[in-house]
Amino acid sequence: MAKKAELHYDGKVYELPIIEGTENETAIDISKLRQDAGIITLDRGFKNTGSTESAITFLDGEKGILRYRGYSIEDLAENASFLEVAFLLIYGELPNSKELYNFQEEVSKHTLVHEDVRAILDGFPSKSHPMGVLSSLVSSLTAFYPKSLDPNRSAEEVNGTIIRSIAKLPTLAAWSFKNRMRQPVIYPDNSLGYCENFIRMMFSLPTVNYEVNPVITSALNKLLILHADHEQNCSAATVRIVGSSHASLYASISAGIAALWGPLHGGANQAVIEMFEQIKENGGDVNKYVEKAKDKSDPFRLMGFGHRVYKNFDPRAKIIKKAADDVLAQLGVEDPILDIALKLEKVALKDQYFKDRGLYPNVDFYSGIIYRALGIPTDMFTVMFALGRLPGWIAQWKEMRENHEPIGRPRQIYVGENERKYVSINKR
Ligand code: CMC
Repeated sequence: MAKKAELHYDGKVYELPIIEGTENETAIDISKLRQDAGIITLDRGFKNTGSTESAITFLDGEKGILRYRGYSIEDLAENASFLEVAFLLIYGELPNSKELYNFQEEVSKHTLVHEDVRAILDGFPSKSHPMGVLSSLVSSLTAFYPKSLDPNRSAEEVNGTIIRSIAKLPTLAAWSFKNRMRQPVIYPDNSLGYCENFIRMMFSLPTVNYEVNPVITSALNKLLILHADHEQNCSAATVRIVGSSHASLYASISAGIAALWGPLHGGANQAVIEMFEQIKENGGDVNKYVEKAKDKSDPFRLMGFGHRVYKNFDPRAKIIKKAADDVLAQLGVEDPILDIALKLEKVALKDQYFKDRGLYPNVDFYSGIIYRALGIPTDMFTVMFALGRLPGWIAQWKEMRENHEPIGRPRQIYVGENERKYVSINKR
């Protein structure tokens, strides 16, 4: 017999269907509740509300499990390439060698952006944050590909927009950095792999023959995979909700970049390093900052700590911590910030406040240390996150479209004034 939940309200009993996922996750379907009982549910920040049924990413916050399409994050980060994982997320299965070859070829054919994008880029002051520049440039792609405005085109045409997004984001990301440095932009080199090409566009100069270090490309490949999707997080939910109005994929991704920018989401990776630097400059007393984070009258939080879903550990943080050690050793970099990070982690993990609330280092606690070792400046860190998260956003958008999901439009409980009469200005 199908399971049902019962709601007793105002002397009546309402039966609510139960939805079960393939990993036995359970939800009460309340979609008819307003129609049947005249009430809605209220859940600020959607802390306990599922917005969709999704077959892309599974995570179990209590057990620290993260899987893309059934494959564990540990397995993928160790063995796969970023484009292979992008294919998996977007199309549902790992590619065979021919499919991967064709996918890589298609992506590398579209890395160039229209020359007029440079004029838009030139209009940004050099102090612009690269996330703002990136979000604007992605949105500007709608102007260069006006047909992309209609997401109801054939699957083949929609796929063209998907390929272009993946191909062009590294170019736009690297160019947003070049704008900040007021250096000439470097054009993509389609003979190079995805990560290699991006690193070259970031660090090459017309006057210097830049050799990409394989330690750097391999570390970048791993970081991008670890960030590639994370089910219904703030930016993915944004991409789905913007796309649900039938806005274009480029517009939806641009909105996703804006959502990712905030320090409670992807912007935490920049905020973490700024926090470590601040602690170092103030004498390195980590206990003082742990106490500040616990003080409810102080808005300070330990950046890189805590997660909406992970309450035991973040599996990505485990992999990244090890990768940070490896990268620093391989590149021969000694970063005093690492000592601060290790001390802070040790003190916070022993502290009852953090234990009681299930607050552990998250993916962003150590990622900045690797980005610094790779030579990436702090305000580019969230751009790196966006580069990694792109296939996840595309997969979420595509699934939402293919499932013909309705426009995202939450309800509210109104707590404002009741009806009142307009009073003319000279009587107020
Ligand atoms: N430092 C100090 N206290 C914290 C922290 C923190 N980093 N995170 C949560 N808390 C406390 C919070 O004050 C609250 O305490 P109380 O129950 O006494 O009121 C309790 O823990 C629960 O916090 P919450 O804000 O209700 O939890 P949430 O699920 O809404 O927020 C979070 C999750 C990630 C926004 C939050 O932990 C946070 O602000 N962390 C720091 C920013 C950060 O590192 N963000 C990156 C997340 S991982 C990358 C990504 O996927 O986006």
